Amino acid sequence: MSVTALIGAQWGDEGKGHIADQLAAQSAIVARYNGGDNAGHTITIGRTLVRTHLIPAGAFHQHVINVLGPGMVINLKSLAREVDDLNSHGANLTPDRLKLDSAAHLLLPGHIALDGADEAQLGADAIGTTRRGIGPAYTDKMARIGVRAGAMTDSHLFSDLVRGHVERVNVRLTRDYGRSPLDPEAIATEYVELARRFTPHLEDTTSLIHATLERGEQVLAEGAQGTLLDIDHGTYPYVTSSSTITGGVLTGLGVGPKHVKRVVGVAKAFCSRVGAGPFPTELHGDEALRLRGTGANPWDEYGSTTGRPRRTGWLDLVALKYAARINGLTELVVTKLDVLTGINPIPVCIAYSCCEAPLTNFPTNLTTLTCCEPIYSELPGWEQDISGVRRIEDLPLAARVYLLQIETFTGVKVSHVSVGPDRSQIFEV
Ligand code: GDP
Ligand code: IMO
Ligand code: MG
Repeated sequence: MSVTALIGAQWGDEGKGHIADQLAAQSAIVARYNGGDNAGHTITIGRTLVRTHLIPAGAFHQHVINVLGPGMVINLKSLAREVDDLNSHGANLTPDRLKLDSAAHLLLPGHIALDGADEAQLGADAIGTTRRGIGPAYTDKMARIGVRAGAMTDSHLFSDLVRGHVERVNVRLTRDYGRSPLDPEAIATEYVELARRFTPHLEDTTSLIHATLERGEQVLAEGAQGTLLDIDHGTYPYVTSSSTITGGVLTGLGVGPKHVKRVVGVAKAFCSRVGAGPFPTELHGDEALRLRGTGANPWDEYGSTTGRPRRTGWLDLVALKYAARINGLTELVVTKLDVLTGINPIPVCIAYSCCEAPLTNFPTNLTTLTCCEPIYSELPGWEQDISGVRRIEDLPLAARVYLLQIETFTGVKVSHVSVGPDRSQIFEV
């Protein structure tokens, strides 16, 4: 049938895992198309809270095949840990249920070492990466010296490739950074063992996806990170190293625009960002803490991958409209509306002032963006607890006005609203 793309419409952590888990119920395949274990997606099923990093949200739907697509960079050590963790929660990720594309790149120990060394070298200009090796892994891919997952089938060749990777990285670690070299033999031995475990999961997932579509079944493309972290269209250089947007679905899975019928943007009712880089509506002090939470609740704004406190700020409609445009969003899902309960009035950013001139289009030029000051419109708040609401008409009027403002400004319909982290706390509008 068709592909539904699920895209982070802000700076990541919009609640993609929560929504993907919901949409997975109607999908035959859930596929990740970009990134690696820098992602941290939370799925809450009753009392069980699981965090996924590489494995799509189809893990907890037994009819779903979970695909790690060609556009990803896969850390096998991290994958082994995650499979064991999710299986302990009943995921049952057998080779039939978890497929690694042969063309996906492997993220190897040298990439992690280089990510740390690069960040340390940048000092005050550091990007604030997750230090999972993402940038160096995509660098090798683009330089055409990466190791693809398909290489795992030949132990001798694979061992040589891993050793070659470590030796190449060691030159940089020792010469450029004065760091100790990694042990090529030990790493090659460890990775040959990991390859034995994951070879049965290898697949040509592009063909698998097309066969599934031809049978009339649905495929869900689960995005990682968010639009403003996209390598081309984000707040460069404070971005990740992959295509996080709808365009990334096409290249990252090998499907055409005609296959993608539905593009669902996930946006929080406010904004957050982890790591460095411009964030026009950022708040500080108590106001920031009010949106972040103290960490007492599992949904408070602390990184799912690194545990870092997330920077928080008011909803930025200028940035959201930009995300709507470049992704071609056909609908929006608004999450964490419950967190705004009790704030009155609620500011939303409707333009920026930059060097006195108002800007209504999101600038991706770093210098311009850095000098942007948000211009706010104030919307009325509400006091009632909305976490139990399951129909739009039961939301307080002010909450409905808030959603309407999002629709009017972005030109995209809000199709679902989430008022809590549990599976049961999402409703269709
Ligand atoms: P992702 O990376 O986009 O999947 O998002 P994360 O899982 O990193 O962060 C989103 C956080 O918000 C998680 O802790 C979710 O459980 C939580 N969450 C998602 N939707 C809602 C919601 O509507 N209300 C509340 N309170 N929490 C939510
Ligand atoms: P999910 O899928 C939020 C951020 C990092 C850093 C920048 C580059 O959970 O939304 P990287 O390690 O990718 O080279 O870091 O991108 N970042 C994320 N921020 N959510 C994520 O994933 C992120 N993945 C990377 O904090 O600023
Ligand atoms: Mg996350």
